[in-house]
Amino acid sequence: MPLPLAHGGQAVLFASSEAHPLVKTGGLADVAASLPAALRDLGHDARLIIPAYPQAKRLVRELRVLSELGLKNTQGPVSLLGGLLPDRDLPVYLVEAPAYFCREGNPYTDVSGGDWGDNPERFLLFARVLARVALGLPTLDWRPDVLHCNDWQTGLAPVLLSRYEERPATLFTVHNLAYQGVFDRATFDRLALPPALWSIGGVEFHQRMSFLKGGIVFSDRINTVSPTYAGEARTAQYGCGLDGLLRQLGQRFQGILNGIDYRTWDPLRDTSLAQNYDRNSLELKAANKLALQHQFDLPIDEQRLVLGHIGRLVEQKGVDLILDLIPRFIEKGGIQLVIQGEGDRALEQRLLELAAQHSDRLSVRIGYDEARAHLIEAGSDLFLMPSRFEPCGLNQMYSLRYGTVPIVRRTGGLADTVIDAGEESLAKQEATGFLFDEPNAEALWSAIERALRLYQQQPGVWQQLMRNGMTRDLSWEASAKRYQAFYEEALESRADQGIALSA
Ligand code: GLC
Repeated sequence: MPLPLAHGGQAVLFASSEAHPLVKTGGLADVAASLPAALRDLGHDARLIIPAYPQAKRLVRELRVLSELGLKNTQGPVSLLGGLLPDRDLPVYLVEAPAYFCREGNPYTDVSGGDWGDNPERFLLFARVLARVALGLPTLDWRPDVLHCNDWQTGLAPVLLSRYEERPATLFTVHNLAYQGVFDRATFDRLALPPALWSIGGVEFHQRMSFLKGGIVFSDRINTVSPTYAGEARTAQYGCGLDGLLRQLGQRFQGILNGIDYRTWDPLRDTSLAQNYDRNSLELKAANKLALQHQFDLPIDEQRLVLGHIGRLVEQKGVDLILDLIPRFIEKGGIQLVIQGEGDRALEQRLLELAAQHSDRLSVRIGYDEARAHLIEAGSDLFLMPSRFEPCGLNQMYSLRYGTVPIVRRTGGLADTVIDAGEESLAKQEATGFLFDEPNAEALWSAIERALRLYQQQPGVWQQLMRNGMTRDLSWEASAKRYQAFYEEALESRADQGIALSA
């Protein structure tokens, strides 16, 4: 029996190390802004909390100091600020601790691209503040029923809270098992965590400490961001060493598919586009291709087929598979490729060199630019996502919504969101894109060739394919309800533990 909801809804503190539009390195930022908003639409009092990076402080509306926290053993004072997201009425708390978070740029890395050496201290501090707010700050007059943590940067919060009988229920979402926040024994000692945590039932992980494992072990409920990835995560191939633990969790660990923010990603209202359109005015979409070619300094020609790619430049995303195909693109002719990304310096270099050699075919922008991402989604004909693994993936969903046909590897959330254009699915008007299985350039190339054939030989069917994607419901509505149910389960199991504790 689900517990009755307080005031008809739950108070949810949503903790993340990034949130769009304050600071963004990947999909987590989009989820951190849009899921709490969707929960509010369902009647819950969801509030976001992130570190007070300088860019976040500049963007938050009605920012004010709420509370001095008086934490011991920190570098300098720590306080809680509060305000609203700039583009929607979502309450946001910022953890103000200048020695830890007053750094411009990427929230995790320094200018050379290496992790900040004090990341363990920074995200332990974040977790300490999360625990404080979760237990109820006297000056705040608000206490969450549920603390919803995301990724390793928040992993120690459920660990710290586990000692408190009066704690809220905890839910931990893994957006990517490959990022674990793993540090050596000396770091564990330096952080001065309770020594008992150095154990197999604690944060110890192969003689090191893992923030991610902490979040998984100590939370009431755990999930990842698609059903297929939840299955993959339980296997040695994808589990990144945590598959055994995840298997043991049984039903406490689930996959809940991300949604996308229909307010931000709407081809009919998007202010970053050269021309708005929808599924009934597909002919207008081409104006965005011309604008994209212009912005990327490519020959402006509506007849060329434009392939887009956006992503962190890391092995996971398989951009090297795309690079291996450049000679074939050149040979084939009529194709242009636009890429926006940032990450691995060697990959960035290789991309820029190739773009310089083939400047009429390939154009690359290093760095993340939100408006440009919108134009790529709208202006491309096809969107490539050859990920080796993909917990959910959002860009393929943005593509679907924008009538840009995705070509994706059959893994994780990609497999859950794109329906391959086979004979039957095309006939049923269900097909939305192209899938391939093997993580190599050859398999990607055959999928691209399949797409090209359909594009060239059956323009009517192609238009239907575009429309099918645009018609699919990718909104947060269904998934936010699944989170709601999962919160209820977490609250119930929390209540059972409470009974056990007091017995
Ligand atoms: C991470 C994952 C990506 C997912 C996103 C949001 O960036 O790599 O697949 O879509 O988190 O959950």
